[in-house]
Amino acid sequence: MNCSLAVNSAGTSRLTDMHHWMVYPSLDVAAKAAADFIAEQIAASIEARGVCHMIVPGGNTPAGCFAALAEKPLQWDKLHCYPGDERCYAVGNTERNDVMITANLLSRLTSIHFHPMQAERGAEQAALAYRKTIGAIDAFDIAFLGMGEDGHTASLFPGNAALQETASVVAVHASPKPPADRVSMSLVTLRQARLRVVLAAGASKAMIMARIRAGEALPVNQVGDIHWFVDEASVSKEGE
Ligand code: 6PG
Repeated sequence: MNCSLAVNSAGTSRLTDMHHWMVYPSLDVAAKAAADFIAEQIAASIEARGVCHMIVPGGNTPAGCFAALAEKPLQWDKLHCYPGDERCYAVGNTERNDVMITANLLSRLTSIHFHPMQAERGAEQAALAYRKTIGAIDAFDIAFLGMGEDGHTASLFPGNAALQETASVVAVHASPKPPADRVSMSLVTLRQARLRVVLAAGASKAMIMARIRAGEALPVNQVGDIHWFVDEASVSKEGE
């Protein structure tokens, strides 16, 4: 994979044939830069279409980015947020992604329209119901995603049957990351988004990041071109 390296004041930018990499000294700096970029895209979507439909990630990484985003002067009542995936736990279980999203974003910005996945109903029922929830959206304006150490994104894991599904929202079983049962936006839906952003950080992701930069196909880089916001630890030479 050929790429050119351009250095800018805030970090280094690596443009590859499909992805745009922004590398920052730390997760904190990368999260703030991602928040700046996402805020611009939210404003542009609202300007163009009067609304912004954004997929938001679960996991631990996004918290700082959500906090930085919450400081932005945007028309929050025109933003609709949808979890990229949800873990099949009871409503209110602290392991659920919507609990993290609420704590870090929605509790700060109560006018955002949030559409939770009813994962408590079980993966199949929740996936069927959520297809209806997003049925009127032809393309999400922003798919803001995380990435796991195995290259998964949302709840689309390497080698999992859900990767082959063509429905907009899929039931996931045998997830290697607990819980085994989840609900996820599908590759089809993520590919259809107008824009994809991945925030990833930490030395634990350096190995998988090296494989991605070498061009290996993993769930995260099968979603299409990505604006990557990463820290130096996750793109360190140790990972190569
Ligand atoms: C989940 C998330 C998942 C997450 C990655 C990264 O339900 O686990 O949706 O896709 O984004 O696993 O998680 P961290 O940010 O905690 O590393």
